[in-house]
Parts: sequence; structure tokens; C-alpha cells
Amino acid sequence: MIGTDPAGAARSPTQPDWSPGSWRARPLRQAPAYPDPAALEAAERKLRKYPPLVFAGEARRLKAALALASRGGAFVLQGGDCAESFADFTADTIRDTFRVLLQMAVVLTFGASVPVVKIGRWAGQFAKPRSSDHETIGSETLPSYRGDLINGPEFTAEARVPDPNRMEFGYFQSASTLNLLRAFAGGGYADLHEVHRWNLGFVERSPLADRYKDLANRIGETLEFMAACGMTSATTPQIRETDFYTSHEALLLPYEQALTRVDSTSGDWYACSAHFLWIGDRTRQPSGAHVEFLRGVKNPIGIKVGPSADPDELVRILQILNPANEAGRITLISRMGEQQLKDKLPPVIGAVRRARSNVTWVCDPMHGNTIATASKLKTRDFASILSEVRQFFDVHAAEGTWAGGVHVEMTGQNVTECTGGAHRLTEQDLGARYETYCDPRLNAEQSLELAFLIAEELKARR
Ligand code: PEP
Ligand code: CO
Repeated sequence: MIGTDPAGAARSPTQPDWSPGSWRARPLRQAPAYPDPAALEAAERKLRKYPPLVFAGEARRLKAALALASRGGAFVLQGGDCAESFADFTADTIRDTFRVLLQMAVVLTFGASVPVVKIGRWAGQFAKPRSSDHETIGSETLPSYRGDLINGPEFTAEARVPDPNRMEFGYFQSASTLNLLRAFAGGGYADLHEVHRWNLGFVERSPLADRYKDLANRIGETLEFMAACGMTSATTPQIRETDFYTSHEALLLPYEQALTRVDSTSGDWYACSAHFLWIGDRTRQPSGAHVEFLRGVKNPIGIKVGPSADPDELVRILQILNPANEAGRITLISRMGEQQLKDKLPPVIGAVRRARSNVTWVCDPMHGNTIATASKLKTRDFASILSEVRQFFDVHAAEGTWAGGVHVEMTGQNVTECTGGAHRLTEQDLGARYETYCDPRLNAEQSLELAFLIAEELKARR
């Protein structure tokens, strides 16, 4: 179904001025300094021959779901690690995070009676933009860690050299992760009759575990009623399986280009590394390489919108990325921080409205709320995260736009990286299980708690 373009130079009939490699003529931010260009080219050549990880038809299906969310008919839940890692790659960690995402989705769907579009930061979220090119510990300064797709997290000169062969490893880990996610989503694990079993990983005696059990009981009763009416897992696929999509930041363009393919049914180009790709807050320059690359692929795409975003410039980016103003094509992921949201989000919404641009509005309450503890650990406080989400709902209600989803950094593990939540984690608790490779994530309980609180907001406003 999808052919390859070994040279990456073929032009699209509908976009004669774009090719998968046209980004190379544009200013490129956050680029790793690969010491051996020949080795990079060899790695790209290899990847170009490998099968795509996702199909164009799936990306179109997600785009339709996001279009629904842009019109107020669905809510987006996008979540996962800040940075996936080669070292933490086991079936258990995949299952645990998937389970928490399913629990969150069920809480939102059942609590707020709204369809939930589920997207993981997953199976490719390996490349990280960095505020600084270097990291200093004591008297030693080394290149920053840029994610496992690029270099190693260990603080040694050797590990920090960008290695293009990591792209191949990242590809295979993504394929393997995606394989398990597809099996979980379609093979019985996500059957709604399992809602009680998803709870088993949960810390007993937790107030949230009780709240979740109560919800699972109500879902169980509903399923019994539906079965009595003739709707069972056997007759109704929606009970048995779920749609689950993958996403990551399209940061490492040699990797993205190598996995870009023509869809033979439409003749269009698709980035086949994930269903949904986003442009980070540091790489969204209208004439920059990242915008240029994403302009030509037909996937649904996201744009991170931080407090430094100029609303007029953002509208220019929307015109470049979505000239046909297709609904579902663009998701604006605002990440203003709880202190700045009330000032910064309304002008962005106003500019987008005046331009009559179709977008799906999603809130990332994580990246504007990162703080450093006295002992220099990065953390985020649950109260700040919740405050940003609530303000996001308030501002959209005042503007008459639909608050269409949330984007969170979370894990199914019982980590201690964000403070607060039902267990009132303090800065002193953070040392116990601080395991992230980049930004602090909500743990399983904090994630579920957030879902319950968001469901209340949604319900109150529908
Ligand atoms: C991220 O999502 O991990 C990230 C780096 O976000 P942003 O580009 O919004 O800072
Ligand atoms: Co992050």
C-alpha cells in the first residue's frame, strides 16, 4: 500500500515545492552535531527501506476523530513519558502505562459522557529539545542529553556523542511497542469487562482506588444492562476494543524523513513514524525546518504554544501548515503555565478565531509549570497542573471555544516526580523513586486523580 522513495526527493503533484527533504534548505534548530556525516547517511538509507510503523488510513481516522474534538464532539487524552528510554523497555512498563491511560479514558468517558480520543506519547517519543546545548556537573561540561534516539543519558563524554545508529534501535523499539499496544487495544485487554481487573495494579486503601472501584461497578452494571439488551463484547466491537494512536515530537528530521512514505491510495505523503506528530515550542519558526517538513505530510499535527508565541505569527504558521483549513489537521497544544495562561491564551484564541482557522484546542498543563527544588530536581506541583487545566476550561468557556483535550506527561509506575496529589507528596519524597529521563511525570495515582477532576469540569460545563 505504501511505497518508498529511496532518494527522498520525489515531489508531490499537489505540492510541487515540497519534498520529504526540502526542510534541509531551512534553518534547523536543535540539531545534533553528528561527528560522522557518512554514518548518518548510511543510517538514514537503512531506515528508508524499513516498513512504515503506521498506515495512512489510521492517520486519517485519527484526523477525523480530532476534527470531531474541534467541534466539541470528543475530548482528547494524550499522555505518556516525557522521554521514552531504551533502558526502561519492558512489557510491564508498557502495560502499566497503557492501563492508566485506559483508566483515565474510562473515567472521562463515563464521568462526562464524551467520547475520548486516546493518543500515547509513545513508540517514538525519543528525541528531546534542550534549553541548553551543554550540561555542567561540578567542574565538567558535556553536551546535553537529547533523548535516546540521539545520544545516551549517562554523564560521560562518550555517551553524549550523537550516534546515528540509535535511530535504528529507536525504530525497532517503536515497532515492538506499537505491536504490543495494538494487541492490547484490539486483543481483549481493553475490553470494558476488564475495568475491574485494570484496577489490580492499584495501591490498595487509596481513596482513588475506592473511587475507581465505584466507577467500575457502575460500568459493570451498565454492561449487564446492555448485555440484557443484546449488546455484548461478541456483538459490539466498541465494548471489546478501542482505538489507540501514537504520537511524538517531530524533532529529529533525518529520522522523520526516512520514515516518510507515499500513500498509494491517495498519492499523498505521510510521516509513517507515528499517527500524530507535533512541533515543539522551540522549533515552531514559520520559515524553519520543522514547519517545512510537517507542511508536506498529511498526518494530523500538533503545535505547542508557549507564552512566547506571537498570535499573528501563529496564524501564519496555521496558514502554512493547513492552507485548506481542514478540521482535525491542527491541534494547538497550549502550555502557558498557570501564572501566564489567563494573560496569554485569550489573545491566541482571538487571533485564531479572527483567522477563522479550524483547530482542536488541547491543554498541556505540564511544560509551563516545571520548577526546580532546592536540591535542583525538576518537579511540578499537582495543584499548579490542575490550576492550569481549570483556567484552560474557564478561558475557553469565556471565549466560546471548546476545551478539546489534555496532554500530560505520566507513567503507570509509582514514581515520585511531581509533588502533591491525594498522597500529598512533598519535595522530600521526590528522592524515593525519581526515574524520569527528562521531565517529571505524574504517577499512576496522580494521573487518575487528574482524570477524575477533569471529568468533573467537563461534566459541569456540558
Ligand atoms: C515536551 O512535550 O516534552 C516538550 C519538550 O514540550 P515543549 O516543546 O512544549 O517545551
Ligand atoms: Co517534557
